[in-house]
Amino acid sequence: MAQHNLDNIDTSEYPHINRGLDGIVAFSTTKSSIDGQKGELIYSGYNIDVLADKATFEEVCFLLWNDRLPNKAELEDLKKKLIAQRELPKPVLDYITSTNKDAEPMAVLRTAVSMLADFETEKTGDKSKDNRNHAIAMTAQIPTIIAAFDRARRGEEIVSPLKEGSTAFNFLYMLNGKEPGEAAEQTMDLCLVLHAEHGMNASTFTARTICATESDMFSAVTGAIGALKGPLHGGANTAVMNTLLELEKDGEKADAVAFTKKKLANKEKMMGFGHRVYKTFDPRAVHLRKMSKKLSEETGHEKLYEWSEDMLKTMKEEKNIDPNVDFFSASVYYSIGIQPDLFTCIFTMSRVSGWSAHYIEQSENNRLVRPRALYIGEKNLEWTPVEER
Ligand code: CMC
Repeated sequence: MAQHNLDNIDTSEYPHINRGLDGIVAFSTTKSSIDGQKGELIYSGYNIDVLADKATFEEVCFLLWNDRLPNKAELEDLKKKLIAQRELPKPVLDYITSTNKDAEPMAVLRTAVSMLADFETEKTGDKSKDNRNHAIAMTAQIPTIIAAFDRARRGEEIVSPLKEGSTAFNFLYMLNGKEPGEAAEQTMDLCLVLHAEHGMNASTFTARTICATESDMFSAVTGAIGALKGPLHGGANTAVMNTLLELEKDGEKADAVAFTKKKLANKEKMMGFGHRVYKTFDPRAVHLRKMSKKLSEETGHEKLYEWSEDMLKTMKEEKNIDPNVDFFSASVYYSIGIQPDLFTCIFTMSRVSGWSAHYIEQSENNRLVRPRALYIGEKNLEWTPVEER
């Protein structure tokens, strides 16, 4: 096994060694700004608190794709285009309904998004227009993929998308087979607003790196989904829920403080805590925490919220680590009746807007992404024939 400690290795040839690219700036962007000390997040000029209070997901999509808010006609036009693209091509739907019911929803979503490329062959000749059309197509179709797979694996009939209504409303309708109430639609919409964009995280970096090879947007989003799926990134929300459900098994004896301390003593990570950039409370978690409290009271899941607060307090006391976006989003999604293994898919449903915005930006000012790796293996070994090894 190679020794990855670089203390005794001559690295003078490589002035920028940084495992994990900590703090390295590889791109410039107008899509979002994060101040990890202040706990501030801005999408294309607008503070996340303002957007959480006032914007819909569709407005955020327009903002990210165009760096400005839409006027009324532009917003209506975008909504119409999104609605018009919700249906899936038949071969994609056939794949979703015939694949292994036990497959991971994120894996199915990744494959289905990749397939969508085969049906988006119309080109206007204007790269910027084509990019925006592809962004709209994926943002419209990803919710249909998620809902269709969930219903198919439950043995329920697939519900066709509506020809009206917001992304949030239509998704909950397709998932549950009935129209959601106003509160559920608002909760889902706010979650979509909060997850849309977040600087140079692993999946966005992946999308931009793929774009930088001049590959297409479907490839970039497919790669980004693969990156988001991991538990250190978007997969953390499902992992948080599994942690809460693990604690629930203790019944009356459940003790979130002791549970957290035990995990830390065993050197296990508490999912939904910590962040590479934020060294304070993630501003999105502030909104999700409020939602989690309200929803858990309304739906009889108070214990989940109480345990979450106990974990948060213990993590602060023991490690001085704050929660990230995934921590409270888990109990929020659970309270509105979404299966834990769909949580990361819902993150995707929103983040596709940010990935496609970065794709558009990168393709307009491109340079190949090509870092270096420090070779720490041996060199010029003598060859031995296979029979002698
Ligand atoms: N639980 C326990 N200890 C932690 C945690 C955690 N969740 N996060 C960081 N630490 C400790 C870590 O063990 C290390 O301690 P020490 O210096 O004693 O070895 C120190 O804090 C620094 O952590 P790190 O892993 O070097 O930090 P990083 O910037 O490489 O990783 C992270 C950031 C998000 C991968 C990490 O905090 C983590 O694994 N968190 C849990 C998974 C998670 O919630 N991921 C979602 C990230 S935010 C949303 C998203 O992007 O999708």
